[in-house]
Amino acid sequence: MNALSLDTVVLSKDRGALEILDQTLLPNEIRVLRLTETEEIWEAIRSLRVRGAPAIGVCAGYAMALAASKIETDSREEFLAAFREKKAYLASSRPTAVNLFWALDRMERVAADHPELSLSELRERLFREADAIREEDIAISRSIGRLGLGLLRRGDGILTHCNAGTLATAKYGTATAPIYAALEEGRDDLRVYCDETRPLLQGARLTAFEMCSAGADTTLLCDNAASSLMKSGKIDIVFVGCDRVARNGDTANKIGTSAVAILAKHYGIPFYVCAPSSTIDMSLPDGDSIPIEQRPGEEVTEMWYTRRMAPEGVQVYNPAFDVTPCGLITGIITERGICRAPFESAFRALGIK
Ligand code: MRU
Repeated sequence: MNALSLDTVVLSKDRGALEILDQTLLPNEIRVLRLTETEEIWEAIRSLRVRGAPAIGVCAGYAMALAASKIETDSREEFLAAFREKKAYLASSRPTAVNLFWALDRMERVAADHPELSLSELRERLFREADAIREEDIAISRSIGRLGLGLLRRGDGILTHCNAGTLATAKYGTATAPIYAALEEGRDDLRVYCDETRPLLQGARLTAFEMCSAGADTTLLCDNAASSLMKSGKIDIVFVGCDRVARNGDTANKIGTSAVAILAKHYGIPFYVCAPSSTIDMSLPDGDSIPIEQRPGEEVTEMWYTRRMAPEGVQVYNPAFDVTPCGLITGIITERGICRAPFESAFRALGIK
């Protein structure tokens, strides 16, 4: 089974539920959850059953369409008030990935900007908008894949951190998209190295699973082995995803990404961020203004272990993301083109506002 055949998040055929692949169970179990209530979807995002910035955006789009289909009123005012309540609630699920807010705002614009539609037509239109977000996301990944593939030479070793793969998007991923594109061309010369990504192991559980299932030459390493691996000469390029990019190019991604960037700079290895334009937040001047999610300490002290592996009462520092300063980034691969420093003007040149 190729992980590409799995759908991260789709609307059920009867349009009464979201079908979400529960990523907390991977790679050992493939279970699809049927979620009908906004509260259940909120919990799925918060618990990382569905995760990865683009996939969270797709999920939010469908969650709003589904919620709208259940708002029982003939009054537009009441409809919009209930819609905005659901939107605010979903926006509280996770703070860092801007795609969540981007998708929620996009759905709200559709809800608010079509007074010519009846409420039942509007509910239909919202489903179509959510479908569009999903379809666009697949096209974006394809485009990032083609651009990223253009940077790869035969036999390159690619290091990636966390999971910016098909499971983090509607399909193909961002950081993995160039690898899927190479595999589709029948190339088997690339080597993929996956950081395990403590504490939630997205690299081991998700990226390594994806890459192995796709037939890529895949090696898993502990996060603290990255320096030794780079020194050995096996890594030619780094591809990572992102949760939010500020307009100067500072990039928030899974905790540990900035350490990989610092190492890459030290060893002279190009470091690329793969970023759908929806992940670029031009309203923020730099990375200091990106909100960073703090997660429960149990993820570090207990999760995955058969017994607790830290003393009771110890304080835990567990930020989910860190910010890689733009000066460490060789390029940001968007679906519209590859941006290089200075990033703000490069983004604007591609029409990113
Ligand atoms: O906490 P997660 O698993 O949602 O974090 C995911 C990442 O950091 C990804 O690299 C990022 O969302 C980009 S996914 C294309």
